Amino acid sequence: MNENPIKIRLMKADDFDAVVGIDEKVLKASRPEYYTVKFEKLFHSTDYLLASLVAEDEQGTMVGFVMGEIYIGEFGISNEKATLDTIGVDPSCRQKGIGNLLINEFMAHLRTLGVKKIFTLVDWNDSKLIHFFSANHFSPSKTINLERSL
Ligand SMILES: CC(C)(COP(=O)(O)OP(=O)(O)OC[C@H]1O[C@@H](n2cnc3c(N)ncnc32)[C@H](O)[C@@H]1OP(=O)(O)O)[C@@H](O)C(=O)NCCC(=O)NCCS
Repeated sequence: MNENPIKIRLMKADDFDAVVGIDEKVLKASRPEYYTVKFEKLFHSTDYLLASLVAEDEQGTMVGFVMGEIYIGEFGISNEKATLDTIGVDPSCRQKGIGNLLINEFMAHLRTLGVKKIFTLVDWNDSKLIHFFSANHFSPSKTINLERSL
């Protein structure tokens, strides 16, 4: 039997250090403050639904994660839109389909929560990441992100 050794599960509050560790390998810079805010929102705010998953290898070591948010609007009505704001696969574990597995499970999880559309932002110059999202059926949105320098 050719069972995939990678397991996907919901993120837990005590995954914090492993998530920060993978993110540091991906970006080559540590940003625990960013994740402190995100984990606070995910695990302690009633305004957001948990939409974050981790990938583990056979030894139970985290090899990747995906984080997203679903805002529960006024009156607790679930929004049909969600965001995918961070994805990261350990650089030593890439090109094995883990990113694809994370995206597929993320989609399946959000579908069960009633989400109809997922948005993400990608740096225009990050052609590898754009290629990855395109291969995973993301396409340019009709909304344009505007900015103004101060
Ligand atoms: C984008 C990212 C998540 C992809 O992770 P990954 O696990 O390598 O993704 P996959 O393995 O599913 O797909 C990558 C490639 O490997 C290929 N692949 C998948 N399984 C394979 C296998 N068994 N053998 C060979 N190649 C394989 C895929 O076809 C894909 O090829 P392509 O690029 O030519 O389309 C990862 O590169 C990453 O973390 N990048 C940094 C993201 C980042 O900047 N995050 C911070 C801001 S959000």
